[in-house]
Amino acid sequence: MIYNSLAILLTAILFLSDSVEGSPHTSLKARQASLPAGWSSLGCYTDSALTRTLRTASFTSVDSMTISSCINFCSSQGFHFAGLEFGRECYCDNSIRYPAFATNANDCNMACTGDSSSICGAGDRLSVYSTPLLATTTTTTVAHGPTPTISFPPGWNFQGCFVDPVNPTRALQHQVTVPGGNTPTGCVNACVAAGWTVAGVEFGSECWCDDYMPYDFMTSGSFTNSDCNMPCSGDTTKACGAGNRIQLYVNFNNARPDFGCLSDGRDPKSYPPFQPRGITTVQDQIGLIALLIDVDESGRKTFILTDPTTGCPDPCEGYSTFTFSNGILKPYGLLGNPVALPPVIGESPIFVTNTDAAPFTDYCVSPFGTDNIDWYGFPRLTANQPWAFCHNTSADGRFDIVYSPVPDHPNYDSGSCLNFVTLQLFIPTANF
Ligand SMILES: *[C@@H]1O[C@H](CO)[C@@H](O)[C@H](O)[C@H]1NC(C)=O
Repeated sequence: MIYNSLAILLTAILFLSDSVEGSPHTSLKARQASLPAGWSSLGCYTDSALTRTLRTASFTSVDSMTISSCINFCSSQGFHFAGLEFGRECYCDNSIRYPAFATNANDCNMACTGDSSSICGAGDRLSVYSTPLLATTTTTTVAHGPTPTISFPPGWNFQGCFVDPVNPTRALQHQVTVPGGNTPTGCVNACVAAGWTVAGVEFGSECWCDDYMPYDFMTSGSFTNSDCNMPCSGDTTKACGAGNRIQLYVNFNNARPDFGCLSDGRDPKSYPPFQPRGITTVQDQIGLIALLIDVDESGRKTFILTDPTTGCPDPCEGYSTFTFSNGILKPYGLLGNPVALPPVIGESPIFVTNTDAAPFTDYCVSPFGTDNIDWYGFPRLTANQPWAFCHNTSADGRFDIVYSPVPDHPNYDSGSCLNFVTLQLFIPTANF
């Protein structure tokens, strides 16, 4: 499967299409007095056309968008997050999706098209509103469930209520005890103390932690937040999941720095083809390909992981899709036995075919968001060392991935590398 240039073009367009800015109205303040009952402001969040922060339902109104019309639209469909963007767009969901993060409130500064005295986000900025879980109909359940406005440590967000099949595997694997009894905040703090980036409360009294929740679990069963309705053992006014229902919390900001492969018993496993992308600290998103850079006499091919918009000559011989099997990231569609060579400090990651080299298991990635499912986990390509994008002067300034750039490298200036890039895999088509 040779990387095709149309895909590059489409990718480039996707990356650019949401960057249009409207004229800001910085003097405006969002009004909250007139919000529909039960809804409150969560602040201003980042958004992009490629990975919508709220993505399950939406509508646009070029001349009559208001905060209330958006909230009423989302609420009538059972969603408890509503977001307004670019003055005229309304989005709904039951979770704030990775990689969104709360940003400066002043970033949201565009007037709503239907009410010039209210704020409706901005370009790539979403004014987010939320409501607690809908009250459930039975009397044994909690009237007011978890809300994303509970004060969690920075970066932690409520993600929704998911089925935990429990057997043969739990959604999250590591149980911790919450001092003073289970609550969502207590559980998140207990997981933080134990060094995890995902937390879930279940069955009232249980607190579970992990670095990710497998994709299968996100897709199976119920997504109904009202299913999570058992009173917490540490605070009966709050909900803590239910039997086989885990109420999930995720730390978006602080991926665990020492997590390498999905090697805790869930491998080996094959996954559908993914596309990798790099996300820089300023949230630029760069799609990646495995570009063919060398073929030796024996036919052995060498590929480098690089940015297709700067790195792919015409015709472009590279691979845009990857599989993740046995804990190893591999270009998808290569003949032979593609392997990822061990990363060398200061150098670019290399994949080769037709080699007897043993597969190296450190090129591990946790696939993240797709159109309708997320996989929470560690997004960096490998443990411990930061990856960066560097302009490779030996290849016309191509933006190559470099493992822990070093000073005085002949092929790049480490001072101008973009450091601490996180790499993610996403599924280009989400029909699962
Ligand atoms: C730079 O480009 C050359 C030629 O494609 C490649 O061999 C090398 O791995 C790249 N990266 C670095 C860090 O030199």
